[in-house]
Amino acid sequence: MAVIHVTNRAGKTHTIPGKVGNTVMEILRDANMDVEAICGGSCSCATCHVFVDDAWLAMVPARGADELELVEQTGSYKEGSSHLSCQIKFTEALDGLTLTVAPSD
Ligand code: FES
Repeated sequence: MAVIHVTNRAGKTHTIPGKVGNTVMEILRDANMDVEAICGGSCSCATCHVFVDDAWLAMVPARGADELELVEQTGSYKEGSSHLSCQIKFTEALDGLTLTVAPSD
């Protein structure tokens, strides 16, 4: 089973199973990792904001224009590592993906 290593807002790191084909947002939300995802994954709320670990940045899809515009408006935006987890489809190639849930705005 492919996994994701996620540090939640309390700073605690968990290793959770990731279902291939789901989005990273769905995996984090279903595991109660502090991802509200209030828009349900339609790239319009930014409550699924995560910081992707530097070692994984080349493996995740490039941010789309809408995604970048939205995530740049968050108070905790980090150039490079900020991604919306609803825009990352989980694949076997992402087994071991390491990320941190961004603070809520
Ligand atoms: S769930 Fe709303 S932008 Fe990702």
